[in-house]
Amino acid sequence: ERLPALLAAMPKAELHIHIEGSLEPEMIFQLANRNGVELAYESVEALRRAYAFTDLQSFLDIYYAGASVLLHEQDFYDMAWAYLERAARDHVVHAEIFFDPQTHTARGVGMEAVIRGLHRASQDARERLGISSALILCFLRHLSEEEAFATLEEAMPFRGQFIGVGLDSSELGHPPEKFARVFARCRELGLRLVAHAGEEGPPAYIWSALDVLKVERIDHGVQAVHDAALMRRLAEDRIALTVCPLSNLKLRVFPELAQHNLKALLDAGLVATVNSDDPAYFGGYMNDNLVQTFAALPQLDARDAWQLAHNSFEASFVAPDVRRAWQ
Ligand code: ADE
Ligand code: ZN
Repeated sequence: ERLPALLAAMPKAELHIHIEGSLEPEMIFQLANRNGVELAYESVEALRRAYAFTDLQSFLDIYYAGASVLLHEQDFYDMAWAYLERAARDHVVHAEIFFDPQTHTARGVGMEAVIRGLHRASQDARERLGISSALILCFLRHLSEEEAFATLEEAMPFRGQFIGVGLDSSELGHPPEKFARVFARCRELGLRLVAHAGEEGPPAYIWSALDVLKVERIDHGVQAVHDAALMRRLAEDRIALTVCPLSNLKLRVFPELAQHNLKALLDAGLVATVNSDDPAYFGGYMNDNLVQTFAALPQLDARDAWQLAHNSFEASFVAPDVRRAWQ
């Protein structure tokens, strides 16, 4: 079988990775020791055993606890550098990286430590690993729109160091329209716009992400298959979905990888992409997602592999002239 080799070797972009979700248990303990932070788990193994999720919220609780070891600029640098080094080995040539500043500023960490650390790793990785990357600031949707505005304000001195904004955290009960005003402001500021929608939430959340927030990509979006008109809209407007198969499996969006709808999304002509979401928590980086999904869905073939790589560049926020060289 030659497909795993093709999947691994093909150049690709990663468009849905939460940098805090790349924090491996070993690094959580290393940073906890370095920073004198007390953890609720006594060992790396005990922490890893706690990674048994039943839904999105059960994951988020442990993901925010893991992020509590990040205090200083160097911590953010080390986390991002480790991810970029790992992604480069998977032949990811470009990554658009989410970060959750509110998780950190709420603990008294300065916005400058977060953004400077991540940005410095991104610059070093371009130089030393040949991987390009950009940052996307995510608002936590379980918090208020007022808090999102305050976070945007705090980040504005670093406007040159992130390309866009996203919306993540607990989806159900926090529809996109809750953030209509702050996304409108971000749009005026020339920021690129994305949002998580249709991971656990209904197709209506995808519609409002498009029509109210005016996002350019949908993160996850797998629930779109339940709405034929929405599927046509996504295909016609070439709105990309950043699909994360191992995440969907671990958070029980699909009971088995074999039931994942990636093939249906591609066959409907959607600009679907494959991504890792929170690789340290879901048991796989980019190529693990591709290889395991292709193994579970035998209908996926070499053309789909090529299409996924092509889609990842088309859906990226890289300037068209640059990305055409990759496509
Ligand atoms: N934050 C980190 N990973 C997430 C996911 N899969 N959905 C929503 N928020 C997240
Ligand atoms: Zn995500």
